[in-house]
Amino acid sequence: MARLRGSRHLRTTALAVTAGGSLIAGLLVSGGTSQAATQGPCDIYTAGGTPCVAAHSTTRALYGSYAGSLYQVKRASDSTTRDIGPLTAGGVANAAAQDSFCAGTTCLITIVYDQSGRNNRLTQAPPGGFSGPAAGGYDNLANATAAPITVGGHKAYGIYVAPGTGYRNNNTNGVATGDQPEGMYAIFDGTHFNGGCCFDYGNAERNSRDNGNGTMEAIYFGNSKSWGYGAGNGPWIMADLENGLFSGVNTRYNANDPSIGHRFLTAVLKGEPNHWSIRGGNAQSGGLSTFYNGVRPNASGYNPMKKEGAIILGIGGDNSVSARGTFYEGVMTSGYPSDATENAVQANIAAAGYSTDSGSGGNGLTPGSTVSLRATTPGYTDRYVHHTGATVDTGVVTSGSSSTDKGNASWTVRAGLANSSCVSFESRNTAGQYLRHRNYQLYLNANDGGSTFTQDATFCPEPGRNGQGTSLRASNYSDRFVRHYDNLGYIANTSGANTFDSPNTYNDDVSWLVSAPWAA
Ligand code: AHR
Repeated sequence: MARLRGSRHLRTTALAVTAGGSLIAGLLVSGGTSQAATQGPCDIYTAGGTPCVAAHSTTRALYGSYAGSLYQVKRASDSTTRDIGPLTAGGVANAAAQDSFCAGTTCLITIVYDQSGRNNRLTQAPPGGFSGPAAGGYDNLANATAAPITVGGHKAYGIYVAPGTGYRNNNTNGVATGDQPEGMYAIFDGTHFNGGCCFDYGNAERNSRDNGNGTMEAIYFGNSKSWGYGAGNGPWIMADLENGLFSGVNTRYNANDPSIGHRFLTAVLKGEPNHWSIRGGNAQSGGLSTFYNGVRPNASGYNPMKKEGAIILGIGGDNSVSARGTFYEGVMTSGYPSDATENAVQANIAAAGYSTDSGSGGNGLTPGSTVSLRATTPGYTDRYVHHTGATVDTGVVTSGSSSTDKGNASWTVRAGLANSSCVSFESRNTAGQYLRHRNYQLYLNANDGGSTFTQDATFCPEPGRNGQGTSLRASNYSDRFVRHYDNLGYIANTSGANTFDSPNTYNDDVSWLVSAPWAA
């Protein structure tokens, strides 16, 4: 085997001083009427007279009877694809099917299917006014495992949009055009945003270009102040109406559009002739608030609207690709939904049970807790992820180990510094210092707050690659997992040129048991 078993006690001399050592249950109540528990948001929109013309989600079915495909993933190992559907009709996505298909490789989300029956699916966005970073100027596709969460207690994955990522459909069916009325909502991660243009979901131009004021009507989420903005420092829900993000009637400020950053955020936008509205709330509980409800903006070109009916996700209308965010589900309707209909949809969303509780796969990596990470490689199961100064190694830790070594093998779990769906590990002994990789090796360094550091210090938990415990995928090198090799820490794959990328015992070396901390 490539990893130098014989050197285990040479490299990190023993640290021991002594060797001893869903379907939604219940009823949704709206306006005094009870709805069948198996309804989805689009059943509610249909009942309100404003049916969905597009329904996108990687997390759950949006109709009570929907049992078709939610999304498609493509794996790197052999470029084959797999459609992922719900566990049951109307239920949560079958994340286990994705995990099993993508085991040992990486997967991208290639298609987000349209559950409305209109085939308004989202695929890799083509170049437009701006080009994306992928081949041919297309945008990147999202890593399929970068946004793990649970819905109703079942694991699911959202769509993690890093800058450069984008989805689009320029040839839609039934989506509002011109000044026709429409509504839409989306659930985002309210903690994942930036000020780049433009993390949008909704109606856009059919040629991926800026066709002038009023040629878009999409939900925007982020803290851009390039156009409009609201109270505080953001992020805000706004409307991207082309050549402007609007928080209200004015081109710039609306004091009634609050900064809003719920971990799971419901963002709502709707528009009809000379009338539109922004609404929002916490997707985990409570109702919706209205942040704007009135006439079209007092700038030329937005009344009447000239909507074109394409659909975008994660990008601006002209394929601006500078924004980031995370999308879980969203729909677009035909007709202007009533507030009561949207309120019932929000109740359905809250009852669905979006949560980060087991975003780590239910393995105990709960932010705020302290853990030790034990190796699972046969012959090395007395070793833990540990640091010696800035060097991250594995060390044998026992009850007789020094308190320093116990602390150096204990890690406080933090919400991922660069992605709150994932985790970071702060040293129990050295507050402010985090496990991070640099040139693929792991180190303990102080958080400098920069984006390189926060990315390098963020790891996305997955079921252990050898069937035990947890594997930790590097958030910015999605083909690499935290590995021990020759008793030092790395992020490794099985195809790199480095010795630590050896395929020998790889699955064991990247699987860790989350254990009670040696130093609580
Ligand atoms: O309206 C804001 C942005 O401006 C649009 O998303 C984009 O098409 C243009 O650059």
